[in-house]
Amino acid sequence: MDLGLADRVYVLTGASRGLGLATAQALVADGAKVVVSSRSQAGVDEAVRDLGDGAVGVAADLTDADTPGLLVRAATERFGRFDGALISVGGPGHGTAAAQTDEQWREAFETVFLGSVRAARTFAGALGAGGVIGFVLSTSARTPIAGLGLSNGLRPGLAGVAKDMADEYAPRGIRVVSLLPGRVLTDRNRELFAATGDAEKAAVDAAASVPLGRLGEPEEFGRVAAFLLSPAASYLTGLAVPVDGGASRTL
Ligand SMILES: NC(=O)c1ccc[n+]([C@@H]2O[C@H](COP(=O)([O-])OP(=O)(O)OC[C@H]3O[C@@H](n4cnc5c(N)ncnc54)[C@H](OP(=O)(O)O)[C@@H]3O)[C@@H](O)[C@H]2O)c1
Repeated sequence: MDLGLADRVYVLTGASRGLGLATAQALVADGAKVVVSSRSQAGVDEAVRDLGDGAVGVAADLTDADTPGLLVRAATERFGRFDGALISVGGPGHGTAAAQTDEQWREAFETVFLGSVRAARTFAGALGAGGVIGFVLSTSARTPIAGLGLSNGLRPGLAGVAKDMADEYAPRGIRVVSLLPGRVLTDRNRELFAATGDAEKAAVDAAASVPLGRLGEPEEFGRVAAFLLSPAASYLTGLAVPVDGGASRTL
């Protein structure tokens, strides 16, 4: 199937590693151009080297209010168009909801929540008909995950924002979708496994809780995200897609 990605231009935040980078790889593999972004210049440079000619990098923090506009300008100046965006950002810290201080809640809200909402609003303002915005959330948007209180608090709200924006922007022909990764083997999950004190056991236990019996590979997430962002998914909006090997208990 031709996804219709050739020469389309996407902005991806949180894309020097992990799920963002995997999505950029899948988009570029099908002929799209990408602007990849994260806070670290070295990380962005490495991602661009990996992605090749179809990519440019911008080092910027999603928490910074100027970042979304900067990324749209990079897309239009370098590639002459802007067709869609994937909004990903480093996951919030671990610990139960009750154990988080006001400062930890504020910091997570500023980055994970407000940074994402602001980016989506800015991107939507710059997109035309056929444009698309994807939020990388978590299965915690639907079912709380033990020990990830900040995520459990913020992701359901972001899923609600994505649905609200899908309604708001649909008349302009702009789609908004959410992706709900479960356990995909990126640095984020390696850190969460390590934080248990027995990373190997945590990984084995996590895999055992997945009906497919294993953790996901970043490429498996990237291919789903690239499809949802592509013109081939032109009648999909306002939905949240779990990429979790069947782990979610919701229908
Ligand atoms: N992997 C999973 O299975 C899984 C499951 C559920 C939810 N998620 C969520 O999905 C998102 C992506 O996860 P991942 O596994 O790809 O994480 P990751 O491997 O840790 O990668 C995170 C990426 O975001 C960048 N980043 C972090 N903070 C940023 C900021 N403030 N502004 C801009 N870029 C920032 C990082 O680069 P820099 O450090 O250079 O900024 C990196 O490129 C996270 O929110 C995570 O909680 C992941």
